[in-house]
Amino acid sequence: MVGAFALHRALIDALVRRNAIKDSRVEAAFRAIPRHLFLPDVPLAEVYRNEAIPTKIVDGEAVSSSSQPEIMATMLEQLALEPGQRVLEIGAGTGYNAALMTHLVADTGTLISMDVDTDLVDGARAHLAAAGIEHVRVVLGDGGLGCPDGAPYDRIILTVGAWDIAPAWLEQLRPGGRLVLPLTVGGSQKSVAFVRIADHLVSASVTDCAFMSLRGAFAGPPTRVVLGDTPDLRLHVRDPAAVDAAAAYDLLKSAATDLPTGVHVIGGELYGGLVLWIALREPGFCWLEAIGPQADARPVPPLFALAGKYRSAAGVFGAGSAGFYMRPPGDRIPGGPEAEPRPFELYVRGFGEGAETARRLCEHAEAWDAAGRRGTAGLRIRALPIATGHVPAAGEHVIEKRWTRLVLDWPGQAGRGGSRST
Ligand SMILES: C[S@@+](CC[C@H](N)C(=O)[O-])C[C@H]1O[C@@H](n2cnc3c(N)ncnc32)[C@H](O)[C@@H]1O
Repeated sequence: MVGAFALHRALIDALVRRNAIKDSRVEAAFRAIPRHLFLPDVPLAEVYRNEAIPTKIVDGEAVSSSSQPEIMATMLEQLALEPGQRVLEIGAGTGYNAALMTHLVADTGTLISMDVDTDLVDGARAHLAAAGIEHVRVVLGDGGLGCPDGAPYDRIILTVGAWDIAPAWLEQLRPGGRLVLPLTVGGSQKSVAFVRIADHLVSASVTDCAFMSLRGAFAGPPTRVVLGDTPDLRLHVRDPAAVDAAAAYDLLKSAATDLPTGVHVIGGELYGGLVLWIALREPGFCWLEAIGPQADARPVPPLFALAGKYRSAAGVFGAGSAGFYMRPPGDRIPGGPEAEPRPFELYVRGFGEGAETARRLCEHAEAWDAAGRRGTAGLRIRALPIATGHVPAAGEHVIEKRWTRLVLDWPGQAGRGGSRST
């Protein structure tokens, strides 16, 4: 049997080899702190896969997990920690990320990590103690309020997905400090490293990610419509109250038409790029997802999947018609985070009256392609307090949230007209 030491080393070696860890200080932190001390009940072979591991499930839904090591490394690099800094983490979970951060801020740094459930806080404290790490304060509370008694912070990191930027995070960050968080930006999540400049934030780097959502008073608005009689098939829309779930389910079980777009893509380009493109332009933007062992048998067009337990597709939903992007009919969906990106011709599956929605999705794919396939690379996000007015310039897109106005642009790439959405 291969022991923890060898498995740990093999995982970090693999992450370094594939350039998922680039910074030697982040590499040293990962080498110094073994993940299994934070997942004591998980078999070692699972612990040392480059995958997220759910650690707390409520009503069939994971509400806490140890994040995928690769995205943890990316976010730690975005956070750019220095010895001696004051750091707030929202989403203590197992305590593993906090432990990695103590290595980076060293003995002179200060680290507070928050979580909303007593059992998770107790668990994180116990794991940190087992790893011999003493200088992390694990605090029970809603991270949406931050932790005022440790402020101002040089760095704030969320390891849980936010829909908006809560006012406390900006207020408790010192000018010039960094906020790194998974943020919903037009239909998908981006891990954004923001730098505070006076009363607003400007992104220093943006990358794609997929985290579970923040709970509590600062959670985003509901999006989910359950279709059918089990909760494993869901439509996510901007206004779930406006959707007739039974009619939507019937629509998705009806005969469909598949149209080729003529555009060849890889999955990552879609999640970071075309999904954002349609979310910024289509009020009926939606995700359709199926979870659990029956996922492959549900009427979700094949676009994204995790071997036999998750399937999702992005598209547009309206009364009486819907359309989704998908892989060519009959194509295999590569599973798992290690899967090689393989180009495929993008198709659209249309349901319901006329083919108008499906045709529009084809046109969007062509327009996105013709505009240089804008996506996460080169994207700049400015986050302004909502009360700050902003008239979008050519090429800027504005997304209005509850507390924040996000202004998106691609400096250095030619603009094609702006937009405003929520
Ligand atoms: C992906 S896990 C974090 C993983 C963790 N950093 C680790 O290394 O194990 C997300 C965590 O965010 C926590 N969370 C959700 N909403 C929260 C909130 N409002 N305030 C603080 N923590 C929250 C969840 O309970 C969960 O433990």
